[in-house]
Amino acid sequence: MAGPVSSPGFFISFEGGDGAGKSTQIQLLADALRGVGRQVVITREPGGSPGAEAIRKLLLEGAADKWSPITEALLMYAARADHLERTIEPALHRGAVVITDRFADSTMAYQGLAGELGEKAVSTLYKLVVASRGPDLTIILDLPVEEGLKRSGATGDAEQRFESKGATYQEKVRQGFLEIARREPERCAVVSAKDGIAEVAERIREVIQTRFPKLLSR
Ligand code: TYD
Repeated sequence: MAGPVSSPGFFISFEGGDGAGKSTQIQLLADALRGVGRQVVITREPGGSPGAEAIRKLLLEGAADKWSPITEALLMYAARADHLERTIEPALHRGAVVITDRFADSTMAYQGLAGELGEKAVSTLYKLVVASRGPDLTIILDLPVEEGLKRSGATGDAEQRFESKGATYQEKVRQGFLEIARREPERCAVVSAKDGIAEVAERIREVIQTRFPKLLSR
């Protein structure tokens, strides 16, 4: 498989604004990969390991201004370090395809490019914690902010801290992800999430067929 030299697995992250339909698309891609015999591990951030899930609760519940920008980013990265050590790397070493709902690009987009922290601090944390252990492929699901907020607002759960930061912030997040994709076109693919579920799934499969054809063949 076309994964990183150091491990036999393959690492995919899904990114995008709130309500872009990442979890649905992750399930469909996982089904397709399992259909050709791959072992697939689905995970998410913040979270994905017991320690990181405990940190998730601290991050996603409460008022929008609960954490200062640097504290928020450190908590995201504390969770990510645990997630990498306990869940992602062991699965990659077993040869699994790991699909994560959000990873380091979320910190760059939300805290770095849209938030007050700025990209330099986030880059420093990235180098410290992730370095060469990042995704082989990142799918960025792109959707106009209004539509995303409409879709995610309908869930009404307690984890609304980031949704509650407002449309201007969300627009900066969207532009942040597009900027990341422009900077790293080999790793990232932007897929429009505006169309129906089946069309979006088909586009994601096309990206994989083009870039990593072995992944979806037996
Ligand atoms: P979640 O309920 O998982 O939302 P979604 O379904 O949109 O992924 O909440 C995750 C929230 O945390 C989301 O609003 C984005 C935010 N977030 C950051 O701000 N920085 C990060 O590094 C990560 C991983 C998530």
